[in-house]
Amino acid sequence: MEIIKVANAEEGGKKAFELIKEGMKNGAKVLGLATGSTPETLYKEMVTSEVDFTEMTSVNLDEYVGLGGTDEQSYRYFMNDQLFNQKPFKETFVPNGKAEDLAAECKHYEEIIDGHPIDIQVLGIGQNGHIGFNEPGTPLDSLTHVVELTESTINANKRNFDKVEDVPTEAVSMGIGSIMKGKKMILMAYGEAKADAVKGMIDGPVSIDLPASALQNHNDVVVIIDEAAASKL
Ligand code: F6R
Repeated sequence: MEIIKVANAEEGGKKAFELIKEGMKNGAKVLGLATGSTPETLYKEMVTSEVDFTEMTSVNLDEYVGLGGTDEQSYRYFMNDQLFNQKPFKETFVPNGKAEDLAAECKHYEEIIDGHPIDIQVLGIGQNGHIGFNEPGTPLDSLTHVVELTESTINANKRNFDKVEDVPTEAVSMGIGSIMKGKKMILMAYGEAKADAVKGMIDGPVSIDLPASALQNHNDVVVIIDEAAASKL
């Protein structure tokens, strides 16, 4: 893993965007994208840039079960709002959290991933070491699946909802195996709350107890972190 330390999330977003632009120059056509607060500075850089994404495809990591594009807390809404409305892509994929048959949706989404191999996967990390919504205990070779969210994740995400009871308890998420299919990983982490997860991801054993540790088995991972997230290394 290559570790890049930055002063703050703004600098991290700039650095991540540099890597994406370099990848695009070298032919990258498919970006794997994440939601949450971590990639927001990256998306700001993308939106304010002159770069044209109309030949690019994006494949997002996850979506809450029960929420769709018109729900403000959905990840589809977040992506449209933060990026796609300002910077149109050729095609954008986010799992359908309102699919009637979720098992079929998972299978269909994995086919989308295989049909649009991800050149650069953008990742954040949960305080418990999750990537996507793959909580501790998720098999490292898992494909797109329905996930029951842990209390830690529900609590971490409740800031976007009126009350904790409104946070969906399930999500459709790319599996760890689906994420690992991407050619290059850019994982960003900022703030002290991520320090333990970052330490475990980089220095700990590869274990289902800390899903991001699977990235140790990937041959092209760049980790962009601030001092606080790096404080336990
Ligand atoms: C979001 C996702 C999650 C987040 C993680 C960190 O699509 O897959 O793994 O990256 O929960 O969230 P933030 O960035 O809000 O701290």
